Amino acid sequence: MKRVKTAVFISGRGSNMEALIAAAKDPAYPAEIALVFSNDPQAVGLKTAVAAGIETLAIDHRPFGKDRAAHEALIDAALRERGIELVALAGYMRILTPFLTGAWAGKMLNIHPSLLPKYPGLHTHARALAAGDLEAGCTVHWVTEGVDEGPVLGQARVPILSGDDEDALSARVLAQEHKLYPASLAKAAAEMVEG
Ligand code: GRF
Repeated sequence: MKRVKTAVFISGRGSNMEALIAAAKDPAYPAEIALVFSNDPQAVGLKTAVAAGIETLAIDHRPFGKDRAAHEALIDAALRERGIELVALAGYMRILTPFLTGAWAGKMLNIHPSLLPKYPGLHTHARALAAGDLEAGCTVHWVTEGVDEGPVLGQARVPILSGDDEDALSARVLAQEHKLYPASLAKAAAEMVEG
């Protein structure tokens, strides 16, 4: 069975990456996690990926200063060298320029911890709590030029309970992220395989 060669991008702990790696252990899963990339050589998730036997690559963004395009050109070349077909952003904390989003249009997913289009950007759980919302959730979407704006591939909802603080809510949403992302990546990859 053809599996779609996928790179996962992380900047930190990589718990969503771990969920994707676990799902892709099943030979029937339509995506293969071929690379874990980080902009931070110290990202904890890189160690997890190494332990899982997956190739890792870190290209520190800091030496590039404001030249995001130069950083992205190296990333793009690294993906192409490895024959990567699909990219899953999973807690990747860099804003992408139109160069990378354009080069990977229709081939790059992101997970965001809110029910988009509500609360793009940061501090989603604090904002949902401050607004008195009754539900929160997470979204997997295609990446386009606008941050957290692309077409939605999947969403999961959770209730907001009285007494919830940011930590409690984020833990409840994260548990759903770990189910939603593997399911959404499978859907995207299966569609690519079927053409
Ligand atoms: C997740 O909440 C994800 O939705 C957001 O960043 C967080 C990353 O967590 N984009 P992890 O690194 O996957 O544990």
